[in-house]
Amino acid sequence: MAASPVTTERDSWATRMGFILAAVGSAVGLGNMWRFPYVVSEGGGAALVVLYLAIVALVGIPLMTAEFVVGRLSQQSPLVAIPRLGRSRAWAPLGWLFILCGFGILSYYSVIAGWTLRYAFDAIRNAIPSDTAAYFTAASTGVDAVLLHLLFMAMTIWIVVQGVRKGLERSVLVMMPVLFLLLIGLAIWSGTLQGGSEGYAYYLQPDFSALSRPGILAEAAGQAFFSLSLGMGALMTYASYLRSKENLSREATVVALSDFGVAFTAGLVVFPVIAAFALRDQVSDSTVGALFIALPKAFEGLGRTGDIVDTAFFVLLFVAALSSAISLLEVVVTACIDRWGWSRGRAALLTGGLITVLGVPSALDLNFLDAMDKLTGNFLLLVGGLFTAILVGWRIFPEADAELAQGLRSPALRRVWGILLRFVAPVILVAVLFSAAEPTWRAIRTLLGIG
Ligand code: TRP
Repeated sequence: MAASPVTTERDSWATRMGFILAAVGSAVGLGNMWRFPYVVSEGGGAALVVLYLAIVALVGIPLMTAEFVVGRLSQQSPLVAIPRLGRSRAWAPLGWLFILCGFGILSYYSVIAGWTLRYAFDAIRNAIPSDTAAYFTAASTGVDAVLLHLLFMAMTIWIVVQGVRKGLERSVLVMMPVLFLLLIGLAIWSGTLQGGSEGYAYYLQPDFSALSRPGILAEAAGQAFFSLSLGMGALMTYASYLRSKENLSREATVVALSDFGVAFTAGLVVFPVIAAFALRDQVSDSTVGALFIALPKAFEGLGRTGDIVDTAFFVLLFVAALSSAISLLEVVVTACIDRWGWSRGRAALLTGGLITVLGVPSALDLNFLDAMDKLTGNFLLLVGGLFTAILVGWRIFPEADAELAQGLRSPALRRVWGILLRFVAPVILVAVLFSAAEPTWRAIRTLLGIG
């Protein structure tokens, strides 16, 4: 890193495109490919997609804008920025909550990413057996799962060590185009399947009665936060490396809609496959395993086509996971750099190593993994999002509004942002948190081994 003579240089994005792609890379991940189709099939298909989109628009985009604003305003890790901006130590726990989520989510996320590596290797060697349920059981827990989790963490650490411009930005400039091409290719292939139309119908024709199911709002909101990388300062951290004064609400809209576009397209890949190969039962049986059991089953017996398609699919999953994992680790690493003055290498190796160790129980026990996902990936993100909305909407609103105004000139649009952030988002989030309390309590019991 070339230090400028005047200031001690903090890393930054080289281009606007680099920042946007990195944010899209963070958002687009296993959440889109693996979790979205599963949540949609639980929640009754197209009706959930509509509800999901409403939450993205009313809560997701305003909150993402708020995270971007705090990041660029402070030019610092949220761990340092939050108590400073909030002008009180009482805000410090929010910064720590973000760090906790970074540790918690990455620890199991990397385990799932390890499965995608294993599947990609075996797909290339044409070695996925026809009993895909047994194969999943063997691949998802045990020594192999631990080793692949290790390998995946090593790659994540490797990229983060290189820094924002040389590591993150350069790698997403390669990864994201690959991801988009693979995804579009797969969606086109899915469209050629005989008998896939039933899948499209389920996915695209809303049955709104499904929305009366209890807990559905919490599920859609949790999914939105996870998929958009909201509620733990990941995008805040990315924006802290922004110098230029672009319109942050426009960037947030681009990122959120790209993320939705990818999730939606992933549905266009998965649902016709499920219908064409009659895999509905397998998908609803297993939660975390749905995609990993059902899809290879479908690709089996397709001969050469199947070999190419399953390799493409799992490489896609892996790329998506890697560009998300680096953002999770970056939250923790930037915090160590800004708060304690650690070097980037030291921060990435030490915290990445600790996260690797923390992930081992998830690689040995699916129930543990599932409970970690429920607690950190659902509940804690919503808590973090609620307090972020309160901080930005109520405690520092004039400053935040002025920062946003640097790129967003229209007072009317800023007023809309203010209303959504200050009133609509907190009300929805409080309602959601109440309905998420019960499953969260169950998850905590599982993690403590008393469930
Ligand atoms: N959004 C990613 C996904 O959909 C996961 C992720 C990356 C994430 N960074 C995050 C989730 C920060 C919450 C917070 O797979």
